[in-house]
Amino acid sequence: MTETAAGNSGPVFRLIYRSRSRIGAAERKYQLGKIFSVARSSNKKLGVTGALLITDDEFVQALEGPEPVVRQLYLKISKDKRHEHLELLESGDVSTRRRQPGSTPPRKAVPAHGLDTGRDPAAGVSASSAGSLPRRGS
Ligand SMILES: Cc1cc2nc3c(=O)[nH]c(=O)nc-3n(C[C@H](O)[C@H](O)[C@H](O)COP(=O)(O)O)c2cc1C
Repeated sequence: MTETAAGNSGPVFRLIYRSRSRIGAAERKYQLGKIFSVARSSNKKLGVTGALLITDDEFVQALEGPEPVVRQLYLKISKDKRHEHLELLESGDVSTRRRQPGSTPPRKAVPAHGLDTGRDPAAGVSASSAGSLPRRGS
């Protein structure tokens, strides 16, 4: 079985983690804007798709693509000082991507498991979507 570099066909690797934000309220808008912007362009080049969920103090991100690429990206993201206490929630092959790279997002976001908005990987969703996640330490 052959897979394209962008993982367009066959199984893709999906990794989901959560982390605690270290971004202060004053910087929040600016820093999130920077993260969205770099993630949007860089993930597209890498053939990585996914979703980023943001609450007041936590991130949950799903990354999908070729395994080595996703693992490398996760390694880089995990060293980012804007968050800490990364916890790997899930990793492994999945039969299909939730979104194809470069596809047009649906007009209406349909959250699945509070994670996938069907939007760009760099797009945040409202805090209320995180309701299904257990609180840390509980
Ligand atoms: C919660 C969070 C999610 C991030 N997601 C991505 C991402 O999906 N893709 C990406 O390229 N960078 C992402 N970043 C930013 C990277 O950690 C890093 O700052 C950025 O890729 C620039 O790296 P460079 O300076 O080595 O080019 C994320 C950062 C945080 C804090």
